[in-house]
Amino acid sequence: MPLRILAACLIAVPLRAAERDVHSFATPDDVRVRHVDLDITTDFDARQIRGTATLGVELRVAGKPLVLDTRGLTVDAVEASTDGTAFAKAPFELGKPDPILGQALTIQLPKAARAVRIKYATGPNATALQWLSPAQTAGKKHPLLFTQSEAIDARSWVPLQDTPGVRITYTAHVRTPKDLLAVMSARNDPDQKRTGDYRFEMTQPIPSYLMALCVGDLEFRRLGPRTGVYAEPAVVDKAAREFSDLEEFLKACEKLYGPYRWGRYDVLVMPPSFPFGGMENPRLTFASPTTIAGDKSLVSVLAHELAHSWSGNLVSNATWRDFWLNEGFTVYLERRILEAVYGKARADAEAVLGRRSLERELAELPKPDQVLHIDLKGRSPDAGLTDVPYEKGALFLKHLEAVYGRERFDEFLKGYFAHFAFQSITTDQFAKYLEEHLLQGDPEKAAKANVREWLNGPGLPPDAPNPTAPALTKVEDQAKAFAAGTVKAADLPGKTWSAHGWVHFLTSVPPDLGKDKLAALDAAFGVTKSGNSEVLFQWLLLAVRNGYEPAHDRLEQFLTEQGRRKFLQPLYQELVKTPAGKERALAIYKKARPTYHPASVETVDGIVGWKEAK
Ligand code: BES
Ligand code: ZN
Repeated sequence: MPLRILAACLIAVPLRAAERDVHSFATPDDVRVRHVDLDITTDFDARQIRGTATLGVELRVAGKPLVLDTRGLTVDAVEASTDGTAFAKAPFELGKPDPILGQALTIQLPKAARAVRIKYATGPNATALQWLSPAQTAGKKHPLLFTQSEAIDARSWVPLQDTPGVRITYTAHVRTPKDLLAVMSARNDPDQKRTGDYRFEMTQPIPSYLMALCVGDLEFRRLGPRTGVYAEPAVVDKAAREFSDLEEFLKACEKLYGPYRWGRYDVLVMPPSFPFGGMENPRLTFASPTTIAGDKSLVSVLAHELAHSWSGNLVSNATWRDFWLNEGFTVYLERRILEAVYGKARADAEAVLGRRSLERELAELPKPDQVLHIDLKGRSPDAGLTDVPYEKGALFLKHLEAVYGRERFDEFLKGYFAHFAFQSITTDQFAKYLEEHLLQGDPEKAAKANVREWLNGPGLPPDAPNPTAPALTKVEDQAKAFAAGTVKAADLPGKTWSAHGWVHFLTSVPPDLGKDKLAALDAAFGVTKSGNSEVLFQWLLLAVRNGYEPAHDRLEQFLTEQGRRKFLQPLYQELVKTPAGKERALAIYKKARPTYHPASVETVDGIVGWKEAK
């Protein structure tokens, strides 16, 4: 082959092929989806979304098919167009179902194809969707539908290249029952009237896991010029009070890391079955009502989801191996926001709780899963959902801050967000940028930064930051004294502790404290009646471990009235450790299961052995 032609061939191949996403069938280096127009109906009777998705495609290698991700979708027809207006039938094939990935949808394209239209409907077990009956909502009158696409569930309600390495803009035309409001991770009009016919536009390119929709009896309250809150009427005013600092959070984050680039920032308070604390759907964070404690003690979740507008949504992980780029950065930013708005003591307290939680988890995790740049081949991205990407990731950034100084590091982060804005990047791309913009030129500091070890080593390096908070150190001493029997429950200053103080106390006493001591605490402070979800969660864990029966009813109530996976998973795990506990777990789960989101069902099914028990 003449050298000139050989060179041309080499150039046609991307110089450094982006790392393959093992959680997608898509082949975006051949054909890449750039835009999606959704035209869908939400059918609450059939519990089905159906309609069309029209994908704008870019052909990168001639003659290659378009490969999409789907899970449980029925595909009725596929058409392609070379001019964007005239469509003709295109041959397609649904591949063999994979238990983790779903099914590839392979579409043969005409030469010069520009758009592909897929007529489809969701399946009965769409993993992203939860259809709530009126009884499962706060108002009890209207049904509600919401989606949860992260990590790889967008494919269960839209056929697309479901990999965070591919970014799309989108529009949506959504038909709903007339008396319900639809909102999306897109431009939402705060003055939107209920019509049953809604149009949305997302003009910034986002990864598919950030596509989101909620349809329900929702009301809106303004918080600041750019911020507001949606929720069911029964919840919306309480939510507005709890989240009244949102505009301040936004300003604090902008001041540190550059302009907010998404227009409005609103929060949607979900029904209690929402499986996560929060989800950073762009322009419209979805938040669990368990974040409303009445005293703003749990609003760190809001700071977290807002921070994702920079770390995660502006600069996204390219594959789920790189998840720590989303979450570790975001936990770091979250605490910088808390520090700016509420002061250093608050941020430090949260950092202490974070590190303690990480240490407890590291003690149980196999070494390969203690690594930031985790290997997830053959496993669901859920396997990487531990404190490691979150808290170890945040500690790594705190460590870099300590080595280079806050001023220099802030400047670096601001530059990082600007440089990679609206891109999806791998851990290697981050490491290269870090090398070029922070490490280079000072080998001594670079050695201290110890990047390889942080990214690829298990556990924590010995010089990892170890945050302290004086108020919590005191609580820890009191926990020890109480456990040792030198201080009685009634003499503890529990009434002066913050929610963080209580969480720290309950995680600092020995797990086998004994039911007498639990009874004494309960008598002095009424912990079983706590309305703070994080405090109650730690308390119920202790109650199960120690067979403290007076908390049984409250446990059942907690497990049936909310569906946040972070709370369900450890409680069910603790319950099934004894035969009697397992029986109770199954009895409770039998009632609760129909109210949980598919993401939580999948997790709890495995813990209680649901399939075997049936
Ligand atoms: N993006 C995550 C939620 C998520 C991660 C959903 C992976 C599905 C797969 C969100 O930003 C998050 O981290 N939520 C946390 C709260 C946060 C304060 C740590 C949660 O839900 O607990
Ligand atoms: Zn997050």
